[in-house]
Amino acid sequence: MQRGETEGLKARAECQEQEQKQEDGNFLKQLASALRQMLFLVQRLINIVILKSSQTDYGRIHIDGILTIMNSGRFSIGAGTKINSSKYKNIIGGDTRTAFIIHKNAVLRIGENVRISNSTFQCTKSIIIGDHVMIGGSCKIWDTDFHSLDPQVRAAAPNEGYRSCDIVIESNVFIGGFSIILKGVTIGRNSVVAAGSVVTRNIPANEVWGGNPAKFLRKL
Ligand SMILES: CC(C)(COP(=O)(O)OP(=O)(O)OC[C@H]1O[C@@H](n2cnc3c(N)ncnc32)[C@H](O)[C@@H]1OP(=O)(O)O)[C@@H](O)C(=O)NCCC(=O)NCCS
Repeated sequence: MQRGETEGLKARAECQEQEQKQEDGNFLKQLASALRQMLFLVQRLINIVILKSSQTDYGRIHIDGILTIMNSGRFSIGAGTKINSSKYKNIIGGDTRTAFIIHKNAVLRIGENVRISNSTFQCTKSIIIGDHVMIGGSCKIWDTDFHSLDPQVRAAAPNEGYRSCDIVIESNVFIGGFSIILKGVTIGRNSVVAAGSVVTRNIPANEVWGGNPAKFLRKL
């Protein structure tokens, strides 16, 4: 065989090998995309079961990951709301799944077009959230102290005798990741809570607050 012919055969073999690698790559991409879609469908099915069995009143909403809902009161989620409860959509707070716990006779109402990521809501009385509110990764919104401040009550009945007070988060509020909103707080329209804050007092509308305990930082 001539030297030219050998080189030709070698070049063709390399070319075929490249084509094969390309085909394998495309196949793997398609497979990964199909598996992602399947996973999303399975999660969607699980979330529908969770929403229906917990008697949540909800509009057209989008959920990534799987929710936790324990509803013994009234719970509603407005249309257009997006909830992340997974590591994959927003890595911030990804170790925490989104959870809604609503006690007997309590009301948790989430407005329309709200964004929530990997956050926990404990509602023993009332938590009302307006429209277009953004709640960053791993926030905690608790309208209760969970336990009594009286040591004797705490010792006798650890989960009784605690105080609870309504929380209101008005429309267009932005709560930075890893913040805690405590009982009795109202956050006024458009205001911003800085990342990692602990909010213990009311925040007026159109202001930025931050820190532990959260203090006024500036006007918007
Ligand atoms: C609140 C925030 C928007 C302010 O940003 P900014 O307007 O650029 O503010 P600056 O960085 O100029 O800081 C202004 C003041 O606020 C203070 N501040 C900012 N962030 C703070 C925080 N998280 N806690 C406490 N104080 C804070 C600054 O120290 C500064 O104080 P000073 O004037 O005494 O020096 C920003 O710090 C923040 O927390 N973003 C949220 C990010 C987030 O969590 N996204 C969601 C992820 S899922």
